[in-house]
Amino acid sequence: MSKKEIRIGLIGYGFMGRTHSNAYSQLTHFFDTQHVPVRQAVCGRDEEKVKAFAEKWGYASYETDWRELVKREDIDAIDICTPNDSHAEIALECIKHGKMILCEKPLALNGEQGEQMVKAVEASGLPNLVWYNYRFLPAVTLAKNIVDAGELGRVFHYRANFLQDWTISQDLPQGGAGLWRLDAAAAGSGVTGDLLAHCIDTARWINGDIVQVSAMTETFIKERVHTATGEKQAVTIDDACAFLARFENGSLAIFESTRYARGHKALYTFEINGEKKSLAWDLHDLNRLSYFDHGVPGDRRSWGSIHCSDGDHPYAGNWWVPGLCLGYEHSFIHELYEFFRSLDDPSAKKAYPDFRHALGTQYVCDAVLESAKTGQWVDVKKA
Ligand SMILES: NC(=O)c1ccc[n+]([C@@H]2O[C@H](COP(=O)([O-])OP(=O)(O)OC[C@H]3O[C@@H](n4cnc5c(N)ncnc54)[C@H](O)[C@@H]3O)[C@@H](O)[C@H]2O)c1
Repeated sequence: MSKKEIRIGLIGYGFMGRTHSNAYSQLTHFFDTQHVPVRQAVCGRDEEKVKAFAEKWGYASYETDWRELVKREDIDAIDICTPNDSHAEIALECIKHGKMILCEKPLALNGEQGEQMVKAVEASGLPNLVWYNYRFLPAVTLAKNIVDAGELGRVFHYRANFLQDWTISQDLPQGGAGLWRLDAAAAGSGVTGDLLAHCIDTARWINGDIVQVSAMTETFIKERVHTATGEKQAVTIDDACAFLARFENGSLAIFESTRYARGHKALYTFEINGEKKSLAWDLHDLNRLSYFDHGVPGDRRSWGSIHCSDGDHPYAGNWWVPGLCLGYEHSFIHELYEFFRSLDDPSAKKAYPDFRHALGTQYVCDAVLESAKTGQWVDVKKA
């Protein structure tokens, strides 16, 4: 049977533009799907740079205006890899032009924008995905499978951290290329939408909906020079955020994220404690899922770890021989595989986060920011 080509138009060639381009180029070498991606065009505002990117990553053409790309008849799907303030505008334009959408996280700047995106994409029936990629690491998917099988029994606790240290310097400006994350106008929020959104997505996927939160945030450095004006301006993002949460299933959670944890570059960890078993995962040892099984005889009980590299483990059988390691980049390839698999069989249950799933995460982020402002517990809207 001949393959059905899905011609991709990628917008933004920064960090995520590269991880996604790598995924498009690797997917068909390791996974078999009837629908396959074709790197048709990439879009960036700097012609020289976008041309060089197209050549390096094998895109057949390039554009310097995303609106032109979205209009093109020879593009089937748009991949949005631009800063957060452009996701909604680009996605809504894609829907007008009948393009499938693969959108980077967070879905939007806030829930209100996200709702417009969900409404429009669901009315159009167009396939849509949000890149909450950590779900697709073998050890994280295995954690989900173990919880879904009921092996933990009743779940009591969920805790997650995402720690970095790259904004400690007072001299770092806000805004512009590479630093848009420090500018609330472009990012929407600080660590909440950037880092905690990942933790929240994984938590909701594994342990169900979060119904209530109580948060605190801090902006440690109050003013930074803005690259656009050269002037010192107030910093309006959250530099750090910690919040307590209640899940629908009655379990309790604690989440923390900061860009001021000296020594930590990207430490994403989570742990789940159930009646019968506990599970823990650490991005720095991403192939392993740690677990404690209370069901074994008392004198053998201990924390152990599963190296998720065997043929039995999610996605691992498509790669090398058992015992070898996968990395960060594989999470994107696996998410893409799930998307293309769903195009092959639209009647099957979707195994990846779509706009509506991502709206649920956006609602938690909104509730967290509201709680930090008011000092009150806040109920989370249901997506
Ligand atoms: N899934 C993940 O793990 C993950 C990790 C990092 C970033 N992200 C998300 O990906 C998105 C991009 O982040 P990044 O780290 O790649 O940022 P980046 O700054 O490295 O890249 C952004 C790109 O967008 C381009 N761009 C900006 N405005 C544009 C416009 N109007 N037209 C065309 N191109 C435009 C920039 O030139 C740049 O190439 C953000 O939404 C971010 O939250 C997700």
